[in-house]
Amino acid sequence: MTERILILGATSGIARGIAHALARRGHDLLLAARDGAELERIAADLRIRHGIEAGVVVLDVLDEAQHEVLAGALAGDERPLGGVVCAVGYLGDQERAFEDPREARRILDVNFTAPVLLLNRLAAILEARGQGWIIGIASVAGDRGRQSNFVYGAAKGGFALYLQGLRNRLFRHGVQVLSVKPGFVDTAMTWGLPGLFLVADPMAVGERIVRARERGRDTIYVPWFWRGIMTLIRALPEPLFKRLSL
Ligand SMILES: NC(=O)c1ccc[n+]([C@@H]2O[C@H](COP(=O)([O-])OP(=O)(O)OC[C@H]3O[C@@H](n4cnc5c(N)ncnc54)[C@H](OP(=O)(O)O)[C@@H]3O)[C@@H](O)[C@H]2O)c1
Repeated sequence: MTERILILGATSGIARGIAHALARRGHDLLLAARDGAELERIAADLRIRHGIEAGVVVLDVLDEAQHEVLAGALAGDERPLGGVVCAVGYLGDQERAFEDPREARRILDVNFTAPVLLLNRLAAILEARGQGWIIGIASVAGDRGRQSNFVYGAAKGGFALYLQGLRNRLFRHGVQVLSVKPGFVDTAMTWGLPGLFLVADPMAVGERIVRARERGRDTIYVPWFWRGIMTLIRALPEPLFKRLSL
């Protein structure tokens, strides 16, 4: 039986770009997120445009019981799991997160705790198969803490570190882990946000991510120029950096 690729956060703008890039290459897909109606619309579009099989799973990553059910179903499925994309994310509101522990917890859980717990289970399936790949979407926000989004940034920075360690573990089992650090991408997450620049098209970003996976890359910035921007930002001395309004 042919493999399937699981996309977590499949209703996200970046995940749609990745889904189309994978479907163009003939991969069958399993799309997961909370919004079942939107998942069905995306799956139908992928089937019609690319002639692939696209299934749908309604999943709230904050519900750990659902992790066990999903991983159990995939482990026992006659169609092997070929790869996993984790595009789940929640930007949240930094000011609210500073005052309201519930908002801070939601940001930490959606971007870090839940993806780690779920990917651990899914990685075990790929490790046992001795093949496959994982694409995890972190963020440039995780490269340096800034006053405007440091709870989200901490969660994404933690997730990037997790992906790095997972890559180190899975490498010897024949499983590739690609860490992706997007800059600004034109999606629901960034819609209407002030101060954005060089905003990228999610379809172009999706294609770039899939190509990097095929080339066996470990970590990429998308678009590419964010690697340079973040090298500069990381190089700024802390006594100067803490005075900036970033
Ligand atoms: N856009 C950017 O500029 C940018 C920059 C850097 C990094 N990123 C990261 O890239 C990834 C994709 O971003 P995007 O902008 O394309 O995102 P988006 O359009 O805001 O989508 C977020 C995704 O997360 C899913 N999600 C949120 N909470 C969930 C939950 N509890 N359970 C299951 N799914 C949940 C949403 O699905 P449902 O609502 O249907 O559940 C949706 O598919 C995210 O990890 C984001 O942090 C984005």
